[in-house]
Amino acid sequence: MNEPNDPREQEAAMVREELARCGVPRRHAQKAELRRQPGWAGALGEAARLCARKGAVVALLGPRGTGKTQIAAELLRAAVADRRSVRYGTAVELFLDVRAAMGARNRTEADAVADWCRPSLLVIDELQERKGTGFEAGLLAAVVDRRYGALRDTVLVANADRAGFEALAGDGIVSRLNETGGIIRCDWPSFRG
Ligand SMILES: Nc1ncnc2c1ncn2[C@@H]1O[C@H](COP(=O)(O)OP(=O)(O)OP(=O)(O)O)[C@@H](O)[C@H]1O
Ligand SMILES: [Mg+2]
Repeated sequence: MNEPNDPREQEAAMVREELARCGVPRRHAQKAELRRQPGWAGALGEAARLCARKGAVVALLGPRGTGKTQIAAELLRAAVADRRSVRYGTAVELFLDVRAAMGARNRTEADAVADWCRPSLLVIDELQERKGTGFEAGLLAAVVDRRYGALRDTVLVANADRAGFEALAGDGIVSRLNETGGIIRCDWPSFRG
């Protein structure tokens, strides 16, 4: 691969690599030409303002294809450029990771939870895929609560309305979200056409 000579291009390439490494889908990490339509750009600006290393809990909610994951990727891109530690995962990935640690020899469940609590900015996408078990609810609440306590920002993304999100997230998360961040509605037409 050709190394870019322009320092800004080198920096952008490093950030794209770091995004892919932290779990962001390549499609979203590599996206170069973004349409900054007002709804989308406003949601990104609002989320960026809230995720200021103060332990914010922010939810991006809306229908399919409105660019929620892309907004999350752009938040992570800016955080990487600011030299913050970041991680992206779906709710299913979080649950599978912790469950896998339960049966592992070299890693405990607590290690797995600690890994999800460590990054300065964490995105948990596809929250609507949560199965609704008590284990999942407790794990999600524990991760969000530890991050809130440690002043680390958490962005939750769901294809849901407010009531649906509140049911998925549970009281503890909603209470922390009301204090520190908020719900950002992403309900403009889909970018997928
Ligand atoms: N501002 C934008 N400009 C151009 N393309 C965009 C923009 N935002 C998102 N896209 C593209 O549109 C497609 C849908 O976006 P994305 O996957 O982020 O939607 P989503 O809201 O997360 O959808 P879902 O709810 O199904 O997960 C992707 O290919 C994405 O790269
Ligand atoms: Mg998405």
